[in-house]
Amino acid sequence: MKSYNIAVIPGDGTGPEVIREGVKVLDAASKRFGFKTELKYFDFGGERYLKTGETLPESAISELKEFDAIYLGAIGHPEVKPGILEKGILLRLRFELDQYINLRPVKLYPGVDCPLKDKTPEDIDFVVVRENTEGLYAGAGGVLRKGTPDEVAVQESINTRKGVERCIRYAFEYCKKRNKDKKLTLCGKTNVLTFAFDLWERTFNEVAKEYPDIKTDYAHVDAITMWFVKNPEWFDVIVTDNMFGDIITDLGAMIQGGMGIAAGGNINPQGVSMFEPIGGSAPKYTGKNMINPLAAICAAGMMLEHLGEDAAGKTVEKAVMEVTAKHIKSLQAGRMGLTTTEVGDLVAEYVGKL
Ligand code: IPM
Ligand code: MN
Repeated sequence: MKSYNIAVIPGDGTGPEVIREGVKVLDAASKRFGFKTELKYFDFGGERYLKTGETLPESAISELKEFDAIYLGAIGHPEVKPGILEKGILLRLRFELDQYINLRPVKLYPGVDCPLKDKTPEDIDFVVVRENTEGLYAGAGGVLRKGTPDEVAVQESINTRKGVERCIRYAFEYCKKRNKDKKLTLCGKTNVLTFAFDLWERTFNEVAKEYPDIKTDYAHVDAITMWFVKNPEWFDVIVTDNMFGDIITDLGAMIQGGMGIAAGGNINPQGVSMFEPIGGSAPKYTGKNMINPLAAICAAGMMLEHLGEDAAGKTVEKAVMEVTAKHIKSLQAGRMGLTTTEVGDLVAEYVGKL
């Protein structure tokens, strides 16, 4: 029987609650599809940092490299200054494990309230391929004369040919494999960021020549936010840089019904990948059994597909759709008409019988 070693980082706030439901669904999938999962839990997060002063221990990266995948809940603690845990845990994992793709599907499931008038699940089904190791996130820049009236702050966007090209290649391959509209849109800002997005555009056009079956398109980032609202049906796969990808996928999450359902994968195609719900740690809902676990469950589904358990991954998604179509009132925490554990139970039950 196939067995997968999975590192689980429940993290902060509602992270542990949603991960518990995700694990419940993983267990149901492993029984149904005949594979095993060996889970090892890691306590990285705000609580550990407050106790020990350490974000990630020295050994963490080399230890995590040995797993088949990482399953992450949420990082962020109200008593820790913004930036410390994000940079010290989440971004460090993405960078040091070289998870150069952040894959974020935007899909409206049946029964989910869409804030866009007249848009249905047929209209909202695309995937954002966000570059995940460079751009404004690289940490390049610095500050001079801090705290004085003459303070200077510089934050630079790093774009390497290698980094841009591997991301664009992944997006073309993904678009081909997805086999939906076979359309890849580059999202940039070529009219203003004429150094960085010139590199992106040239690379995109060069790689496109190797994929004559894929239609290509371009949209400025500001315009794309407009099209997400007005014509989301235009999109199949979108590739973009780290910062723009961060921003447009929050909008994407809203048009698919909210953070309660939005999942993503931090992918290193040659290494270990990490799957997470894209929302935060939601401190105000912590411990109340009110948070929506579907995003974490969808992340578990993506992880299964990534591990090669395609049927299990697809079944998890179908089970989620049954729950959105037939059981859950709203995706918003506290308005689901069900508790966190009840949602997890339902998905697990469908996974067992679909
Ligand atoms: C995300 C988050 C992170 C990001 C933060 C928490 C560092 O917003 O996963 O989109 O900016 O990438
Ligand atoms: Mn974000």
